[in-house]
Amino acid sequence: SDIEKGTYPYYMLKEIDDQPAVMRRVIQEYTDSMGKAIIDPEIIEKMTASDRIYIVACGTSYNAGWVGKAILEKMTDIPVEVHLSSEFGYNMPLLSEKPFFIFLSQSGETADSRQVLVRTNELDFPSLTLTNMAGSTLSREADYTLLLHAGPEIAVASTKAYTAQIAVLAVLAKAVGDHKGLEASKEFDIAHELSVIAAVMETIIDEKMAISQLVEEYLSETRNAFYIGRGVDYFVSMEASLKLKEISYIQAEGFAAGELKHGTIALIEEGTPVFGVITDKKTAAHTRGNLKEVESRGAHNIVIALASLAKETDQLIIPDVHPLLTPLVSIIPTQLIAYFATLQRGYDVDKPRNLAKSVTVE
Ligand code: G6P
Repeated sequence: SDIEKGTYPYYMLKEIDDQPAVMRRVIQEYTDSMGKAIIDPEIIEKMTASDRIYIVACGTSYNAGWVGKAILEKMTDIPVEVHLSSEFGYNMPLLSEKPFFIFLSQSGETADSRQVLVRTNELDFPSLTLTNMAGSTLSREADYTLLLHAGPEIAVASTKAYTAQIAVLAVLAKAVGDHKGLEASKEFDIAHELSVIAAVMETIIDEKMAISQLVEEYLSETRNAFYIGRGVDYFVSMEASLKLKEISYIQAEGFAAGELKHGTIALIEEGTPVFGVITDKKTAAHTRGNLKEVESRGAHNIVIALASLAKETDQLIIPDVHPLLTPLVSIIPTQLIAYFATLQRGYDVDKPRNLAKSVTVE
């Protein structure tokens, strides 16, 4: 069954490996034989009628929300804001006239997110929960639910729920964009693109040994590390650094590549590992420039790049996928980096100190 870890030493590794199958399950659950997105028409109508989408979430789900924003805005032409539940509830920003709320929660039980949902229900705003847990609190209390179909996620560090959230948000974006008759979404063959993603995920997962060696080479001694990128590569950097710090206890920061020079670059020392995420043509050259800046201050750079943007010296090269979906593949090596860093340091991958899988206090 899904809950068995079988021959795997840790659930996290199994759950990383599960991701191609999860992508295929999302295709199966949410697209028809013609590749058309299948989503409850009521959700589509409510979203189309709204003037602003508010994504509310915590932790890894929050990081998935930023990627979702990029996809939703491109495909639907509706502005999207992303908020931390624990901030939003008590300091609600000025809302638009017709807001639509999307709650992202693997467990569907996170108290910080529920607290916001209780508020938005009082205000009578439409809401949708994306969750892995049918019948969970956030699912029951929201107007609508889309299940992630990722299968049970046991490791505290979330992996497949992150990629499933992005994939389901992409299907949702496609459905709304099609409903609005938008050009961008017409050209977005979601079933095909997600099947390409699944295949590319497999090729990265096959590189485990190389990634493990890279970790040994660059992360064995360090106390801190950086991930940098721009746009979606920045969003991936936020999640990649959260993954690394929460299980390996290496102090890691995900940073907007261009902002580093305005202060944080002071932390770069001889040997500080800096991972550059480069999947966006518009910003690739600029991020490379920022990597040069840190290298000249002693940083050890490791570059994760899309094949079409890669240089020979880049350590991790990822086959090209649809430009809006690159986070689904660029995140995979970073999950494996976190896994191997933790393993090599001798910590419990699945049960990091101080953390819980589901946090039911505010
Ligand atoms: C906890 C978990 C994180 C998770 C966050 C949000 O802190 O340790 O991995 O991202 O809660 O959880 P949710 O179930 O709402 O996605």
